[in-house]
Amino acid sequence: MLDRLNAQAPDALLALIKMHAADERADKIDLGVGVYRTDSGDTPVFRAVKAAERVLVDRQDSKSYLGPEGDGEFVRALMPYIFGRDDTTLLSRIEGMQTPGGTGAVRLAVSLAKQAGVRRIHLGVPSWPNHAQILKDVGVEIAEFDHANADGTANVEAALDAIRNAGEGEAILLHGCCHNPTGIDYSAEQWSALADALSAGTVLPILDIAYQGLGHGMEEDVAGVRTVLAAVPEALIAYSCDKNFGLYRDRVGAFYMMAKDASQLAAIGSNANSLARANWSMPPDHGGAAVRIILTDDAMTSLWHEELDDMRERMRGVRRKLAAAGNRAPGLNLEALENQNGLFAILPLSKEQIVKLREDHGIYMAGSGRINVAGLHSGNIEKFIEALAEVA
Ligand SMILES: Cc1ncc(COP(=O)(O)O)c(C=O)c1O
Repeated sequence: MLDRLNAQAPDALLALIKMHAADERADKIDLGVGVYRTDSGDTPVFRAVKAAERVLVDRQDSKSYLGPEGDGEFVRALMPYIFGRDDTTLLSRIEGMQTPGGTGAVRLAVSLAKQAGVRRIHLGVPSWPNHAQILKDVGVEIAEFDHANADGTANVEAALDAIRNAGEGEAILLHGCCHNPTGIDYSAEQWSALADALSAGTVLPILDIAYQGLGHGMEEDVAGVRTVLAAVPEALIAYSCDKNFGLYRDRVGAFYMMAKDASQLAAIGSNANSLARANWSMPPDHGGAAVRIILTDDAMTSLWHEELDDMRERMRGVRRKLAAAGNRAPGLNLEALENQNGLFAILPLSKEQIVKLREDHGIYMAGSGRINVAGLHSGNIEKFIEALAEVA
């Protein structure tokens, strides 16, 4: 039976990782893999996470099952960061559960939307490739719209058109901040326009927040999401702690449901619960427990903020340098990068230029021109800019 399976196309990013590993040049540069790197090129465990893990080892007295909803205190500890502390009516309409990473949260959001009757989801493209994969796998139709304009700004009109022309049983998936792969986020005015268009409640917003704190700050990065939530009757929110706590392999995420009325939350949550049970039964505990310990301890919370601030500032610095580098690579306008956010950017390079960068200079990036901004640091950015100037 299994011999009926045809081989799937290899994952392009994994192929790139292999090519990079096989390259023997000492000054090769990896801009493909999507994890944060320090100015020394490392992806270390956060000091706040190490501190929390020590507490966890000392104090955890059982590894018994927690249930499909995971660690409730972890889920609640994140809520003020995502939703704010003040609007108690809004907060009373939100219920959450822990998920295996942001991926699990997106999967649960899409599955629950489908269970509630959503047949079609609008998705700005390009997007994180797993979005389309999850939508296909869950079995909802994908309606694509253009996320960005050629000048590196967000094409909000395309998203607004999608919302205005949507019929019954449709949803829209929006990146909360630090759009992957473009780094192009909606402005405050554009979020307001989206909130207005969504306020009728005919299109269900699914908001994916995977990089809070990596753009402009923890509060700033969810301002748009909060504008939408204040305007709409209901929404689903997928959240990842894997980047902003550096917990990638520990798979730390949360899924929140915002209902029209608090009285509906028990029924909605019970559906999410049974979907989680059927998908993964229960989320892994360790990383979520570490985040919970950090967020319920003032000293560890401050340490985490410091580490997150450093990450963000470093990436803003790299973006500034790249934006200025356009002068040295005539014909290559990188100015928009400075106003974009997060780990990723798409460089306006041709396929030939991308291959030349790889073959002649040992610089590895996705075929779309997507780079991990954090792959650049003081030891390699000059070489990168020189190579860009040469291929431009
Ligand atoms: C837009 C977006 N959403 C969700 C995720 C999922 O993150 P994770 O499952 O690693 O927590 C990612 C990861 O790359 C992402 O870019």
